[in-house]
Amino acid sequence: MSILSGKNILLGISAGIAAYKTASLVRVFIKAGANVKVVMTPASKDFVTPLTLSTLSKNPVHSSFYNEDDENAEWNNHVELGLWADYLLVAPATANTMSKMANGTCDNLLLATYLSAKCPVYFAPAMDLDMYKHPSTLNTFKKLKSFGNIMIPATSGELASGLVGQGRLAEPEDIVAFMEQDVLNKLPLKGRKIMITAGPTYEALDPVRFIGNHSSGKMGFEIAKASANFGAEVVLITGPTHQKVNHSLIQVVPVVSAQDMYEAAHTYYKTVDVAILSAAVADYKPKEISNQKIKKKDSTLVLELEKTKDILASLGEIKLKQLLVGFALETNNELEYAKGKLKKKNLDLIVLNSLNDKGAGFKSETNKVTIIDKENNITAYKLKSKAEVAIDILSEIIKKLNA
Ligand code: CTP
Repeated sequence: MSILSGKNILLGISAGIAAYKTASLVRVFIKAGANVKVVMTPASKDFVTPLTLSTLSKNPVHSSFYNEDDENAEWNNHVELGLWADYLLVAPATANTMSKMANGTCDNLLLATYLSAKCPVYFAPAMDLDMYKHPSTLNTFKKLKSFGNIMIPATSGELASGLVGQGRLAEPEDIVAFMEQDVLNKLPLKGRKIMITAGPTYEALDPVRFIGNHSSGKMGFEIAKASANFGAEVVLITGPTHQKVNHSLIQVVPVVSAQDMYEAAHTYYKTVDVAILSAAVADYKPKEISNQKIKKKDSTLVLELEKTKDILASLGEIKLKQLLVGFALETNNELEYAKGKLKKKNLDLIVLNSLNDKGAGFKSETNKVTIIDKENNITAYKLKSKAEVAIDILSEIIKKLNA
């Protein structure tokens, strides 16, 4: 899945012959799963039609502050467009438009949108080779980059003039690949490895029965997705659940029992920077597993259970550089018990859920957590969706990693 999937891309088109390539560019963004809106300079409409671009982007295309042909003309709000965008890309960026961007000129909708955008801005120049090399153009590049704009350089080859040299707009696939790589490189967990345990464990009684719990695995899966979206390489060790995930940065390791989860966790722990143990691991398992189905006989049946291994505590014992994060699900004396676990299991952070909070817990779509660190800083969060809670937990982790 592309890192741009679900992101809002605002494509600004200025008037160069390379504008014909923007039809393909919109398609490549859409294929990557991005949402695309297009803003054009008035003159660029001579090179590619708004109809083509609105059809491909499935969004209206704007090129002036209002539509003169429409008697119910609405104001095309450049501030709203700028705020909508996760990324603004100006492609092709002509010498004229870039010079205006560099100097704060604001005589069309594209430039007004550029000035109001708060998101990262990419620009992909295209022009003839001598224009590209001109000191004033080089000065414009320098100035635009000094504002934090990111340049996607033109490539070399045959130009519209028939001359050969640097000035060709980068190919649509290469522009999108450039942006994907740049976005990835800047993610806060880029280069970090994270192991997550999730879901319940099933402890077999016989070939057809087990002891389990109601954990849905949702919290752990949301943490895995948020970690990957922040650029981390994720190993998600999960007990049996209905949750699904499909992300190129997430490796799913399915397990069944507490012992399986213990072994998988110890296999990956040495290689990771962070381990987050959110699984609801069975604390006890049947002492004997019957090879055959247990037949009903007497009116009562006594099962002998023995303790499972505490995975979290075992990782705390062998901890080296890893940041170790545990969960605690409590019903009473919550803070005290959570702090006790943090210390006893040698954790860096503990995420406390109280079963007294409405909307928190196993089957719910929401969660309400308090995060405690080993310096005894306590942060209580509001009731939120599990996806939002995952981001809160990771934000704490990112702070610790960067401290
Ligand atoms: N955990 C684990 N392995 C186990 C049991 C628990 O890794 N065998 C982890 C959970 O994933 C969670 C943390 O330990 O991160 C807290 O689990 P919890 O059951 O609340 O704590 P316990 O130490 O088992 O204490 P108690 O059941 O008495 O509350």
